[in-house]
Amino acid sequence: MSCLPCFQSKKTNEPPAKDPSVPVARPANPPPSPPHFASPVENGDSSKAKTFTFRELASATKNFRQECLIGEGGFGRVFKGTLQGGEVVAVKQLDRTGTQGNKEFQVEVLMLSLLNHQNLVNLIGYCADGDQRILVYEYMPMGCLADHLIDIKEDQKAFDWRNRIKIASGAAQGLEYLHEKANPPIIYRDLRTTNILLDQDLNPRLSDYGLAKLAGGGNTSHISPRVMGTYGYCAPEYERSGELSFKSDVYSFGIVLLELITGRRAVDTTRPPDEQNLVAWAQPIFRNPKRFKEMADPVLKNKFPERSLNQAVGIAAMCLQEEPSVRPLISDVVAALTTLDVNEPIPESLSSPEKDGSDIENSDE
Ligand SMILES: Nc1ncnc2c1ncn2[C@@H]1O[C@H](COP(=O)(O)OP(=O)(O)OP(=O)(O)O)[C@@H](O)[C@H]1O
Ligand SMILES: [Mg+2]
Repeated sequence: MSCLPCFQSKKTNEPPAKDPSVPVARPANPPPSPPHFASPVENGDSSKAKTFTFRELASATKNFRQECLIGEGGFGRVFKGTLQGGEVVAVKQLDRTGTQGNKEFQVEVLMLSLLNHQNLVNLIGYCADGDQRILVYEYMPMGCLADHLIDIKEDQKAFDWRNRIKIASGAAQGLEYLHEKANPPIIYRDLRTTNILLDQDLNPRLSDYGLAKLAGGGNTSHISPRVMGTYGYCAPEYERSGELSFKSDVYSFGIVLLELITGRRAVDTTRPPDEQNLVAWAQPIFRNPKRFKEMADPVLKNKFPERSLNQAVGIAAMCLQEEPSVRPLISDVVAALTTLDVNEPIPESLSSPEKDGSDIENSDE
């Protein structure tokens, strides 16, 4: 696609790793020094992951009271809590069925807690008292991306184009860190708009990375009770044979990007039959660049630079290719997104007061 020079200059036809379900990472730019979290347990370096007693977390969440419950996902329930020092945290109590042994759990948590990137939600610590498996994360005050994109409430403003690209770009950078900089590398497995949380400044932060493994999935594919409900995010090869790879994450990223562009859900059974599956609806449009504008979320009211929109749709189309080997690497996606010009002047006719999208949250405000 001519609007995406970054993809052409880089090699996206990576040969599959020896075992395609557990790919071995070959970072494009290997870090000069050994990863700083190489063996936290052997080093006795658990300084980054705090251990909490069940009593401490019970007290932080008022005994896991309903009023502190902020959500429930495929792995368990999430509570808002306040630690004794006043720090506000998110406390995720994993369902105990299928969780792994204590020692194995601790090793994994220590590894994950040492990951550090501005687009990841930090794991603060954990509790493994008895058969409890609880994770303590930084609290993200703006909640998840899904809550700001689709079915937004009347008092909420829709995100403007610049914010959407900022979120896409940050999420891609978080994924790039997991794929190409973390050691061992991490396949996210479950990227979607509910797992992209937002901080105060609307920076996207990926949550639940490594969770499938923590919850007892190991290297086998994790089938959470919610996967069926969110199959619209799964790469075709994952749906067919449970095959996970970095490229299945890239596919899921393509869906998230498409949701940001269109304001549509990955799967929406309230729409006409031929529009219910976002990718199926988008595929014919991908083949005709003249139609790209049709994809833009109507709430944007045409307030976006057209070239930028075309490029974003092009990137989504590349990520959503059926064949995993021709999808770009996430580092290619990061490069392409950072070249998007979100500041292109908007034509007068579209920014006139009559057409002004006053219900759009403007990132300049
Ligand atoms: N660190 C956090 N800070 C603030 N809110 C959070 C945090 N982690 C999770 N949440 C909220 O809790 C809700 C449930 O999250 P959870 O991760 O359990 O479910 P999910 O993301 O919908 O599905 P999945 O189990 O596949 O991750 C989400 O809607 C999210 O907004
Ligand atoms: Mg989640």
